[in-house]
Amino acid sequence: MFLPSALKMSSRVSGHLEKAEEEEEEEEEEEDEEGSVNPTEVKMSQIVMPCHSNHQQELSVGQLLKWIDSSACLSAERHAGCPCVTASMDDIHFEHTISVGQVVNIKAKVNRAFNTSMEVGVQVSCEDLFLDRHWRVCHAYATFVTQRKNTGQKVILKPIVPHTEKEQVEYSVAAERRRVRMLHDDIIKDLLSHGSVLQADSWAVGSAVAAEKTKVESVELVLPPHANHQVNTFGGQIMAWMLNVATIAASRLSQAHPTLRTIDMFTFRGPSQVGDRLLLRAIVNNAFKNSMEVGVRAEADQEEGPNRHINSAFMTFEVLDAHRKPCTLPRIRPEPLEGGRRFQEAIARKKIRLDRKYIISRKQGEVPLSVPWDPRNQVYLSYNNVSALKMLAARNKWRLSSEKDKVRLYTMEQKSTLSFRVESKVDVPAHRAFCLLAELSNRPSWDIHYQ
Ligand code: COA
Ligand code: ADP
Repeated sequence: MFLPSALKMSSRVSGHLEKAEEEEEEEEEEEDEEGSVNPTEVKMSQIVMPCHSNHQQELSVGQLLKWIDSSACLSAERHAGCPCVTASMDDIHFEHTISVGQVVNIKAKVNRAFNTSMEVGVQVSCEDLFLDRHWRVCHAYATFVTQRKNTGQKVILKPIVPHTEKEQVEYSVAAERRRVRMLHDDIIKDLLSHGSVLQADSWAVGSAVAAEKTKVESVELVLPPHANHQVNTFGGQIMAWMLNVATIAASRLSQAHPTLRTIDMFTFRGPSQVGDRLLLRAIVNNAFKNSMEVGVRAEADQEEGPNRHINSAFMTFEVLDAHRKPCTLPRIRPEPLEGGRRFQEAIARKKIRLDRKYIISRKQGEVPLSVPWDPRNQVYLSYNNVSALKMLAARNKWRLSSEKDKVRLYTMEQKSTLSFRVESKVDVPAHRAFCLLAELSNRPSWDIHYQ
């Protein structure tokens, strides 16, 4: 059994992984282990028609979000056996666009159930029927929560039992992702309070564009076709509307058609129903050299009293030139009141995104960047560390350096990096080992060095 005994060290080590060994076949759809049928798995395949596309004959991301949300919801409800609502959808990185005529294949399955909430992992790939090729488009993690009974009672979920090795990894890491998700706002505050992000004075430059110029406000009336099977506003539809206003804000800054790269998180704070008027507001929070962050807020307009806050999200856009290279963007001058804070928070979100991206990137050699461990990034890098450790452990260049008391120390040297791996064989049934390793709180019972 391989014991990852030095999680702290892992981000430093893995930040130096080399390109040649790092590259994986990107165009293969990941196959499940033979013979395993996951009862929560839901598959959806759609041919992209002109009615699903944008002005560039590519699948509109809003449509894709609707399909992702439906598949994830069906998977969640298959596990729960009762109606569920979307609580959040996070960490979506778009790697490729999809053209009209191609097929989108979506696979959703429940990675882990907690009390009333569960994480659903969604993989999206594209298929070219004529060339017989498949490639990854994006993956996403959605959290669904069981709807309370009419009596107001919560519905507690039965646990997921992971069978394949891949399911076990997702199961363990899902708990870490949940922790990071719930701490997200605190992590941003922490980064800002410790001065870990650059101070923003770049708006002082004369050519900076006033953020107000990018402001968008739009209203949508929720009609029956926008509702889901529980007669709430369909989460995918809300995301599509939010993306629409964000795209307009990004276009106003760049005066071009922007391409969506990432969505940090959609947080569904409260339900909305048919008949609601949804107010959607967006503005560019910050513009970096080649990318910009747009924030969106959705509220339900109330006849009386303050509006209900329904959702907020942050999206990153680029503008691509004719060779699909990102163009340089104008700087932004934030709005006087909330603008300065949002400008800074956008820098913090970018730092988190990049730190995470490089640590698990499949092509790290392209960007010679490492992410040294420090107490502030340990929280948001934690599950990426697990992925990085797995990649390191799988290498075949480990050399046995010493062995004492049945503990083996392996080393691996690559360029300027020296990695260590400590291996100890223990005689316990595999499922017991998995239970011990899957919960961090169990660690003191098997790792005497934990403190
Ligand atoms: N991301 C992930 N999980 C979240 C979350 C978020 N932003 N907010 C709450 N949760 C989880 C909690 O961790 C908890 O999980 P657990 O029971 O497994 O421990 C569960 O949701 C319930 O939390 P609780 O505090 O009891 O509920 P809440 O009052 O915060 O309500 C929602 C949570 C999601 C039910 C509520 O915010 C809601 O109704 N949102 C709108 C949903 C919607 O309309 N979606 C679109 C249409 S389907
Ligand atoms: P925060 O202000 O902390 O970012 P909010 O949920 O209030 O969180 O808003 C999310 C994002 O929505 C903001 O960062 C901003 O980009 C955008 N936004 C909020 N209010 C407005 C508004 N009145 N006009 C335009 N955009 C807005």
